[in-house]
Amino acid sequence: MSPKSLCFAVLVAIFAVFASRVVINPFPQLQVLDNIADFGITISFSSSFVAKFIPFNFDNLHRHHKHPDKGKPVSVCDDFPPNFPPPETNTTLTLCVDQNGCCNFTKVQAAVDAVPNLSIKRTVIWINSGIYYEKVIIPKTKPNITFQGQGYTSTAIAWNDTALSANGTSYSGSVQVFSTNFIAKNISFMNVAPIPRPGYVGAQADTLHDDRGRHYFKDCYIQGSVDFIFGNGKSLYEDCQMLSMANPVAPGSKSISGAVTAHGRASADENSGFAFVNCSVGGTGRIWLGRAWRPFSRVVFAFTYMADIIAPEGWNNFKDPTRDQTIFYGEYNCRGAGANMSGRTPYVQRLNDTQASLFLSTSFIDGDQWLLSYDT
Ligand SMILES: *[C@@H]1O[C@H](CO)[C@@H](O)[C@H](O)[C@H]1NC(C)=O
Ligand SMILES: *[C@@H]1O[C@H](CO)[C@@H](O)[C@H](O)[C@H]1NC(C)=O
Ligand SMILES: *[C@@H]1O[C@H](CO)[C@@H](O)[C@H](O)[C@H]1NC(C)=O
Ligand SMILES: *[C@@H]1O[C@H](CO)[C@@H](O)[C@H](O)[C@H]1NC(C)=O
Ligand SMILES: *[C@@H]1O[C@H](CO)[C@@H](O)[C@H](O)[C@H]1NC(C)=O
Ligand SMILES: *[C@@H]1O[C@H](CO)[C@@H](O)[C@H](O)[C@H]1NC(C)=O
Ligand SMILES: *[C@@H]1O[C@H](CO)[C@@H](O)[C@H](O)[C@H]1NC(C)=O
Ligand SMILES: *[C@@H]1O[C@H](CO)[C@@H](O)[C@H](O)[C@H]1NC(C)=O
Ligand SMILES: *[C@@H]1O[C@H](CO)[C@@H](O)[C@H](O)[C@H]1NC(C)=O
Ligand SMILES: *[C@@H]1O[C@H](CO)[C@@H](O)[C@H](O)[C@H]1NC(C)=O
Repeated sequence: MSPKSLCFAVLVAIFAVFASRVVINPFPQLQVLDNIADFGITISFSSSFVAKFIPFNFDNLHRHHKHPDKGKPVSVCDDFPPNFPPPETNTTLTLCVDQNGCCNFTKVQAAVDAVPNLSIKRTVIWINSGIYYEKVIIPKTKPNITFQGQGYTSTAIAWNDTALSANGTSYSGSVQVFSTNFIAKNISFMNVAPIPRPGYVGAQADTLHDDRGRHYFKDCYIQGSVDFIFGNGKSLYEDCQMLSMANPVAPGSKSISGAVTAHGRASADENSGFAFVNCSVGGTGRIWLGRAWRPFSRVVFAFTYMADIIAPEGWNNFKDPTRDQTIFYGEYNCRGAGANMSGRTPYVQRLNDTQASLFLSTSFIDGDQWLLSYDT
């Protein structure tokens, strides 16, 4: 796909949010979304927030072609940043991805494929500006990978699978991380599949399958509709922006049209969980912060801005009240209209300082064992 048609695909996806007429249950086999109902087009998002949350800088995609009044032939690589990627070190390998072919690879997946299996060294995959329209899967055999983008407004990975097209929700994520010690910085993850339409079963489109092992996301942007960050990872999201593309619901309606997370912790023995610190949640729809994909689902939001799209109850037990005893959903020092806790479900925890401290820093993901050596 050319950058132009890509922009178009992204815009179509954005437009689809506004054009969708109803909320359907995109996860029918699990019967989870409540109060499914038909409404006319009603847009109840906070528009200033949407503006803030669609930051993609399309100009970056065209800058290679701007070479006025220079007599010599123009190469698409003329603007390739000099001295990039940074040199390899004793403890890192570096691979470079540029969609114009100005360095090692033109696709992110090709770089992932080239990472040695079970490497002890960290491999930094340096991804130049652009929208990489591809599905990216990091297999279990490739720990210690870093995706380093050039800023979440200029580097993105986008794909358009749905549960139907991918043969199951678990495979619909645009980016799927099955390996441990993964880091992503300064990059966007998007699913640009059209928002589900009435009667279209299997349309659920997830974005980030954050599964297995310890992961660190910093300065990222993640866009999707239902359970758009899901899996059983132990992950810290710092300074990340989550944009809901879920269908708007009628004012006053109690319908739910999406959820940010579906964390998959299955037993008390697992130490997985998602922690969001210094993040923001905005966009469209009327959504939950999380729902309990499995009984011991664990998610914490701290110091996070939440727009008014968060339903007052905030969270959902997947229609299984026995999970109320085992799920761990906590909030700490969040702000914004969606962070008002007066209507929250009884099982959500208002974390005190001691409880919250476990989730607020890289020690949540044992960063001292693997993260700081690279991150300094
Ligand atoms: C990298 O390895 C070389 C040779 O073994 C060594 O001299 C150098 O100090 C190492 N550098 C770092 C930063 O560890
Ligand atoms: C990537 O490109 C650099 C610089 O041209 C080169 O040294 C390196 O061998 C390439 N790596 C791979 C895996 O192609
Ligand atoms: C990694 O292992 C897989 C499966 O054994 C193999 O197909 C692939 O070529 C290996 N990749 C590298 C870069 O060694
Ligand atoms: C790479 O991952 C392995 C575990 O799979 C870990 O033991 C090792 O310390 C990691 N290396 C780095 C540089 O983080
Ligand atoms: C992200 O990019 C911005 C500017 O492009 C830079 O200031 C910032 O340090 C980067 N952050 C990370 C974690 O790479
Ligand atoms: C994804 O986009 C491609 C290219 O536009 C299209 O052919 C394909 O049908 C789309 N897939 C889905 C599930 O919408
Ligand atoms: C989809 O899943 C079914 C049942 O597991 C399997 O038979 C089929 O081959 C799968 N199709 C694809 C395209 O993976
Ligand atoms: C949140 O971000 C602010 C400003 O970027 C920073 O000063 C603060 O330390 C961060 N807090 C946490 C808990 O990461
Ligand atoms: C929180 O919500 C309750 C119930 O809707 C409302 O009475 C209260 O004023 C809200 N608090 C804030 C700080 O907005
Ligand atoms: C925080 O909450 C825990 C669990 O309810 C409790 O044991 C602890 O005493 C509290 N700590 C503070 C400082 O309030």
